[in-house]
Amino acid sequence: MESTRAKIINLLSSNQDSYISGQEISNQLQISRSAIWKHIKELEKDGYVIEGIRNRGYRILQSPNKVSENTVQWGLNTNWLGKSIIHKESTTSTQHIAHDLATNHADHGTVVIADEQTAGKGRLSRAWYSSKNKGIWMSIILRPSIPPYLAPQLTLLTATVLADVLKKELKLNPKIKWPNDILLQDKKTSGILTEMQAEQDRIQYVVIGIGINVNHEPDDLAEDIQSKATSLKIETGKSWNMTELIQQILLYFEKTYEDFLDKGFSVIKEKWESYGYRIGEVTSIKTFHDVQRAVLTGIAEDGALLAKYEDGTIKKVYSGEIDW
Ligand code: BTN
Repeated sequence: MESTRAKIINLLSSNQDSYISGQEISNQLQISRSAIWKHIKELEKDGYVIEGIRNRGYRILQSPNKVSENTVQWGLNTNWLGKSIIHKESTTSTQHIAHDLATNHADHGTVVIADEQTAGKGRLSRAWYSSKNKGIWMSIILRPSIPPYLAPQLTLLTATVLADVLKKELKLNPKIKWPNDILLQDKKTSGILTEMQAEQDRIQYVVIGIGINVNHEPDDLAEDIQSKATSLKIETGKSWNMTELIQQILLYFEKTYEDFLDKGFSVIKEKWESYGYRIGEVTSIKTFHDVQRAVLTGIAEDGALLAKYEDGTIKKVYSGEIDW
C-alpha cells in the first residue's frame, strides 16, 4: 500500500511549479488539514523543501538529494520494481546483500542501494570503486522465468535501460560497449554485473548490479581509471539528483523488462545495436586465447557479440573485451 506521505509527494510532484491547496489534498487523500501539515513537516525532515502559502497551498521547491528507502519510494511510479527497497549507508557490496536476501526468499523486484561500497565488485573479478554519495550503487533481484542460458540477455537489457535514461531524460549521447559498459565521450560512466543462482534448467534468481558514476569530480575517480572513466557531472558540468535518477532507472527497467517478457529479445537487440559502440567498425577483440582484429557486426539472440574476422568467418564472442 502506498503510504499517505508517498501520495502527498505524488500529488505535489504532478503539480510542479503550481500550488496545490490543503483542501484539495485533504479531499483527494481523505485526511484532515492538520494531518497534512504533520506529513509536510516529516517530509521536510527528509530533506524536501516545501513552500506553504496561506490561501494558495503547497508546492515542492526542492527534492532531497539524499537517497533513502523513503525518498526513492516516494514518487516512484513502478508497479512491482522497488516495492521493497533496502538502503545502506555503507556496505561491502550491494551484490552480497542482494544474494543473501534472495537466498532468504526476497521478492522479485527487491532493490538494494548503498551510498558507499567498500568492496564493490566489477566484471572479471575486478574492483569497482564506489565512493560515498558520488554514484548509484544498486542491485536488483529478479526471478525471471527464462532458461539460464538466456540470462546474458538481461545484462544487455539493463544496458539499454541505462542508455535510454541517459539519452531521453538527461539528453546525453550514450554508447554501449559490449557487453555492459555505458560510455559518454568514449569514457566509461557505468557498468553492469549480472550474477545468477540457477539449477540446470531453471533460474532461482538473478542479481543485476548497476554502478553509475554520477557526481564525481575528476579527482574523485581512482587514479588508475582516470583516463578511461568519467561521470555524469564531469560530462555535463552539473550535479544530478540521484534519487530522481534511481526512480527513472527503475521505471524504465520495469517497462523494458515487461516488454522483453511480452515480445522477446528482438526489441532489445535492435535497441542495443542502435547504441552499440563501434558496431560496423574494425576493432581488437581480446578473449582468453588471443587478441584479434574483427568487424563488430552486432549481437546474437543469446547475448554474444558477433564479430567478422579477417578470414571472413563470423564468430560469436561470449567473454572478452573489445577495443583492446
Ligand atoms: C563492471 O563494469 O565491471 C560492472 C560494475 C558493476 C558495479 C555495480 S555497483 C552495484 C553492484 N555492487 C557491486 O559490488 N557491483 C555492482
